[in-house]
Amino acid sequence: MALSTILGILLAGFLTLSAGQVIYALLLSPYRNIPGPRLCKITRYWTIYQDLWLRRVRKIAEWHEEYGDVVLIAPGEVSFSSVAQTKEIYGCSGRHPKSSYFDNFLMYGQRPIFCIRNVAEHRQTCKRTFAFYQPSSIYKPATLQPLRTNVRKILDQLKRDTQIQPTVDTMFYSNLYSFDNITRLAYGSELCAHTIDDAYCEERGILNGWKEVEVWNNLIYISPTVHRILRTALGWMKNDPAFLSAEERLTDWNMEKIMSSKQNPSKVVAGSLLHQLSNAKTPDGEPLPTSWIAAEMLDNIYAAQTTVALALVFALWDLARNPEWQSQVRAELLALPTDDDGLPNFDGIMAAPTLDACYRESSRLHPLSSGKAERVVPTTKAYNGVVLPAGTLASTSTLAIHHRPEVFTDPHVYRPDRWLEADEATLQAMESCYMPFGYGARLCLGKAFAVAEIKLLLAGIIVEFSVRRDPLSTTTTEWSMQQLGTQNGMPRGRMCELIFDQLTDPVKGVS
Ligand code: HEM
Repeated sequence: MALSTILGILLAGFLTLSAGQVIYALLLSPYRNIPGPRLCKITRYWTIYQDLWLRRVRKIAEWHEEYGDVVLIAPGEVSFSSVAQTKEIYGCSGRHPKSSYFDNFLMYGQRPIFCIRNVAEHRQTCKRTFAFYQPSSIYKPATLQPLRTNVRKILDQLKRDTQIQPTVDTMFYSNLYSFDNITRLAYGSELCAHTIDDAYCEERGILNGWKEVEVWNNLIYISPTVHRILRTALGWMKNDPAFLSAEERLTDWNMEKIMSSKQNPSKVVAGSLLHQLSNAKTPDGEPLPTSWIAAEMLDNIYAAQTTVALALVFALWDLARNPEWQSQVRAELLALPTDDDGLPNFDGIMAAPTLDACYRESSRLHPLSSGKAERVVPTTKAYNGVVLPAGTLASTSTLAIHHRPEVFTDPHVYRPDRWLEADEATLQAMESCYMPFGYGARLCLGKAFAVAEIKLLLAGIIVEFSVRRDPLSTTTTEWSMQQLGTQNGMPRGRMCELIFDQLTDPVKGVS
């Protein structure tokens, strides 16, 4: 048979199959009546394409604005933006397992809590550490004092650095702060990192490389092979063999800590997560496997590092752009009693309403860890009138639910007053649409620790500095601060340069 005939047959076959797929998707598929872009009904590659350009999260929020609360984002994949459906898929009684996307987060061949898919297995495993993370355990001097010490160190470092150059990259400082904090909580005082103190430590290099890892990781989840090829090619072009190696370096660093703790058990101090896990048992009464402990420790660093660093960056960015709110927060904090370190006391900071409103508003506008929180529909059933077959992937778009116009007036505007002035019913409606730490059964375990870290450093900075935008900065603009659709919503420019003026008279806000 001639080559042209074979090619003709292949082309005809391909076209017939494609036509069949289009006809099925538009006329016969169980998803055919779910609103959404037509291309998404036919192929999953349209959403994957958005993912490759790191705009999946924003695109899905836009589709919600156009199509409503339920959007078909790919054949067999649905996104929600309403409270009722969010409760159903994430709620404790819903029994919706996590999707296979979470297999991407296996470590040392183990499945730490974050990527356990099965509902019952998650519930069982969570018992090991649930109490450890609760506010009653975290909000104790043994945990809070190291945080305050790190706040003081960051403030002193900022004072030294901004005397030389008043414009600094806030992400640099927030990264050091969150790494030292989470490693202290996880490994304890004997094994934690000291990146704030040690300018030449290995961990600083890992943190610096991490930003690029976050940006390129979406590609690993789509095609590990293409990622590998691009990584080699880009490393060669940049003449940087370590390009995108931060993840492996952190994995090795973590295992070294675990092995060090095995060789010298006195380094495992009470109150650390490592101590908690080292003493925990499997349901059969056996000690936990070392590889699982290592995976859980590393998972905590992943969960806690970039999220906290970026929450601080966006909160400071918003306060720098809204000086009137910054002054109000400062006035509120200066009225609080102080501790020996000269900073407002912890209870006062945690209860300060304007600081809380500003932080909440930043997390509403710039949600982190909002990449893919997919769950699997366990049995065919209706979700607010939309029937979804078993196996459908369902998730809530955090960005879309955080911007519901009937709940959040001027949804795209930074308005902390909405949290301060709302009546009870409005506040309740806003709370139910506010999920920066996830929702329900898989709510962030580190929430209490994260909020303490964020509020303590914000409070320290605002009482000792006036923070403002640098009009001459070309690297930090409205455009560069837009969030990318990475797992943790990294700003496009991977940095946030702001001017820090040290206050000589904080009461008057004079620098
Ligand atoms: C601003 C900071 C943080 C944000 C925005 C955040 C957000 C989230 C979100 C949205 C989830 C749910 C993910 C899902 O449903 O798939 C989550 C889970 C989790 N987070 Fe956080 N997180 C933060 C800080 C932390 C910290 C500091 C820790 C550790 C101390 C931590 C530990 C965890 C863990 C262990 C899980 C898994 C919970 C489970 O599956 O049961 N997070 N986080």
